[in-house]
Amino acid sequence: MSYEKEYIRGLRDVAACQTHLSFVDPLGALYYVGYDIDRLIGRVSYEEVIHLLLFRKLPDELELDAIKQKLFSEMTLPKQIVKSIKESPVNAHPMQVLRTSLSKLSEYDKNPNEFSEATNIDRAISLVAKVPTLVSAIYRIRNNKELVHPKKEYRFSENFLYMFRGKPADEKEKEAIDRYMILHADHGLNASTFAARVTASTLSDIYSSVISAIGALGGKLHGGASERVMHMLSNVDNVKDVEDYIQGQLFDGKKIMGFGHRIYTVNDPRSRHLRKISKALCQQINRMELYYTAREIQNVVHKEKKIFPNVDFYAAIVLSAMDIPKEYFTLFFASSRITGWVSHILEQYSDSVLLRPTSRYIGAYGTKFVPINRR
Ligand code: COA
Repeated sequence: MSYEKEYIRGLRDVAACQTHLSFVDPLGALYYVGYDIDRLIGRVSYEEVIHLLLFRKLPDELELDAIKQKLFSEMTLPKQIVKSIKESPVNAHPMQVLRTSLSKLSEYDKNPNEFSEATNIDRAISLVAKVPTLVSAIYRIRNNKELVHPKKEYRFSENFLYMFRGKPADEKEKEAIDRYMILHADHGLNASTFAARVTASTLSDIYSSVISAIGALGGKLHGGASERVMHMLSNVDNVKDVEDYIQGQLFDGKKIMGFGHRIYTVNDPRSRHLRKISKALCQQINRMELYYTAREIQNVVHKEKKIFPNVDFYAAIVLSAMDIPKEYFTLFFASSRITGWVSHILEQYSDSVLLRPTSRYIGAYGTKFVPINRR
């Protein structure tokens, strides 16, 4: 009998689970429950996408009203969470504070021993509602600002910007944040969603599964890239410097953040939309230099490496143009991807199978044992 296992580095092209939720087409398309996002953008709201991913159908008017009400009623945080954020060390990264806050939140679940499907759906909606509130609270507390309460008449995404910045969004910003959240809501079996599903597959609770996802998202090869995109843009003073900067980075063997993708072989469809949104925002605030610098980076990276921007590249410009500090970029990503995570966790629970692959052992055999006093 052979113990040799086929090893697929990075699980590239391995289908590790089945899903009805989203399909990432390598040829440059993304589908949510069968709908091409190119058809959804501009036609549906983020709340409709939440319903679509959670219940696998676009809501009718009554259903939309119901989910909006439910989301609004779940946007508040237990006061102990606010206290815990206040006690977090000032030099901790906000992503660490978000991770801890979610862990703390799990301690305040109303029915901790109840794991029925209905309760898990309630928890899922509650998490979708609470993560943006948490992110806003983290930012405001750490910047000595008063917490801002959401307004019933605002859209969910509009409330997020309002609670975070403390001022109402203008029309362009409202459209931008809603589209940003739709475009970040789900994306097949990306690393954080996989992490969430692995934890859910042990029948661990939904909070633990989301916390696994948060840990994976923070890495710079995943959602952490967009904070680094802004860092790169602040290192390039103007369009003329781009060529030298990129050539220098590539010469030093560094990856350009916000570029490349495991699945797409062509342009990431989310990036096309985010680029347009970023252009409109930069025009409005007279920061076209930022947009043109980003375009030039895209041109030079494509010329040198034949790779395209991914979701994180123009997302960085969109958030920056709305005055979001770069340390919070990954938290905005999490505030939208929470919808995909909880939908995948529920799907994983319904097809309960332990995700437990194997490894190919490449270590030694028969190593001679040496007692501790002779090592
Ligand atoms: N900058 C420069 N070169 C890149 C690159 C980047 N951002 N992304 C990929 N490449 C190059 C690699 O160096 C490699 O070239 P080689 O074959 O000459 O060695 C080739 O493209 C394949 O890249 P690889 O890292 O093997 O692809 P992957 O599928 O394992 O990784 C990413 C995908 C997303 C992790 C990778 O593209 C990356 O690190 N991008 C930067 C981080 C980022 O933006 N992450 C957000 C993802 S949404």
